[in-house]
Amino acid sequence: MANQEDLFKKIIAHAKEYGFVFQSSEIYDGLSAVYDYGPNGTELKNNIRAYWWKAMVQMHENIVGIDSAIFMHPTIWKASGHVDAFNDPLIDNKDSKKRYRADVLVEDHMAKIEGKINKEVVKARKHFGDAFDEQQFLETNPRVLANKAKLEDIKGRLYPAMDNDDMAAIKQLIEDLEIACPISGSRNWTEVRQFNLMFSTNMGSTAEGATEIFLRPETAQGIFVNYLNVQKTSRMKIPFGIAQTGKAFRNEIVARQFIFRMREFEQMEMQYFVRPGEEIKWYEYWKEQRMKWHVSTGIPAEKFRFHDHDKLAHYANAAADIEFEFPIGFKELEGIHSRTDFDLSAHEKFSGKKLRYHDSELNESYVPYVVETSIGLDRMFLAILSHAYTNEQLEDGSSRVVMKIPSVLAPYKVAVFPLTKKDGLPEKAREIMDGLKEDYMCFYEEKDTIGKRYRRHDAIGTPYCVTVDHQTLEDNTVTIRERDSMKQDRVSIDKIGSIVAEKLKAN
Ligand code: GAP
Repeated sequence: MANQEDLFKKIIAHAKEYGFVFQSSEIYDGLSAVYDYGPNGTELKNNIRAYWWKAMVQMHENIVGIDSAIFMHPTIWKASGHVDAFNDPLIDNKDSKKRYRADVLVEDHMAKIEGKINKEVVKARKHFGDAFDEQQFLETNPRVLANKAKLEDIKGRLYPAMDNDDMAAIKQLIEDLEIACPISGSRNWTEVRQFNLMFSTNMGSTAEGATEIFLRPETAQGIFVNYLNVQKTSRMKIPFGIAQTGKAFRNEIVARQFIFRMREFEQMEMQYFVRPGEEIKWYEYWKEQRMKWHVSTGIPAEKFRFHDHDKLAHYANAAADIEFEFPIGFKELEGIHSRTDFDLSAHEKFSGKKLRYHDSELNESYVPYVVETSIGLDRMFLAILSHAYTNEQLEDGSSRVVMKIPSVLAPYKVAVFPLTKKDGLPEKAREIMDGLKEDYMCFYEEKDTIGKRYRRHDAIGTPYCVTVDHQTLEDNTVTIRERDSMKQDRVSIDKIGSIVAEKLKAN
């Protein structure tokens, strides 16, 4: 656990040092849970977005993309249920004036109990050595069993209270567990109350004439309200999909864990419109497709798992998350939801406009059912960073940090180095770079030793480094060095492009 926390801190520090992610407004001490992407981060983020878009839109004839506005008519959020039900339970400590998510306070308390169980295991392993049977220990040790029972008891109270919006029961649980504020150490809590996660602002020039509008908390509603416009103008036949990437905003109470939970983030969503009754078939299809997409990045399949929801949101008749093993544990990366006709029917009701589709094969009009795939771009970025970050001990006793980013997503594909700054080598290197940069993001560097330049590009995940030396001037060959294996080959200049292209295909 401590190791994983340490790893997470190293990844965050690396992301800053190498221009991937910066705290927003850093020179003003930062803005909580808001982040900026630096030059390498922006390239990586653009590449992830393009990789998703290609898989969803380019590879599916029946899926088209849109780019809807962040501001929308406020009634949309009434219809979608966000005004009334997009809430988290909040509690304040009266002494520190700090605000917490009440369920997270309880979950942190549970994590402490889990920590105690882990400590017992570590102690026992030390004591028993090779003879230690962890499973047996977990099933029989009285202190472990007592702590496990405590955990079960807490879960048995927290989850029903959350499901039933029973704020008093959550408050009672915090009191019974004697949870204290981590800042003030006191148990002087306010009541637990619901807190709406939408940000609002005003549109209009005069105070009287201004309308309260919301910053969208999901991109999906922009797709729902445009579905007939798109269907008609693109002449789509059911089943068809509409995809969109864009910013979403949530006033998260718990703002930590780097870019895992942000207040301003980006989503990549696709709504698939299907015949009523066929939604479960498509839901299964999209679960499989989305898992295949994740594995296609080259990240091992065991880093992902499905988590099927037992308790469904009021609009869904099936839902699952694809979870990824982040350094903070297995956590939600993407959601696949069968949303029935909930959203479109609600928009019909609130707008008074018919949102029916005429199915010419069935000669019937109906409100389509929707299966949605929804992934956070920033969360995918964190998954890639967490997977890629590798601290390697090398044979010569030195070490290197290498970002094993899938080549197709890497910020730069090729770095070109002249061995020295003289003898016409920089000019030759520039010539090579000019031949490649039309197709690939390339980086030119002539400062420091070749070894140091390799390390800098390992640290940002550049798959290939090309070195131009004196032999290059004689026979038009260069050294090409592959990032992960560090293997170097001598190849002719005209082969570089196809070597890179092959690598990008294979990932
Ligand atoms: N339209 C469905 C929807 O928005 P969601 O589960 O609330 O569903 C979908 O969000 C995805 O958006 C999540 O799986 C996650 O990847 C990402 N996401 C949600 N809240 C986020 C936040 N505060 N910061 C970063 N990513 C977030």
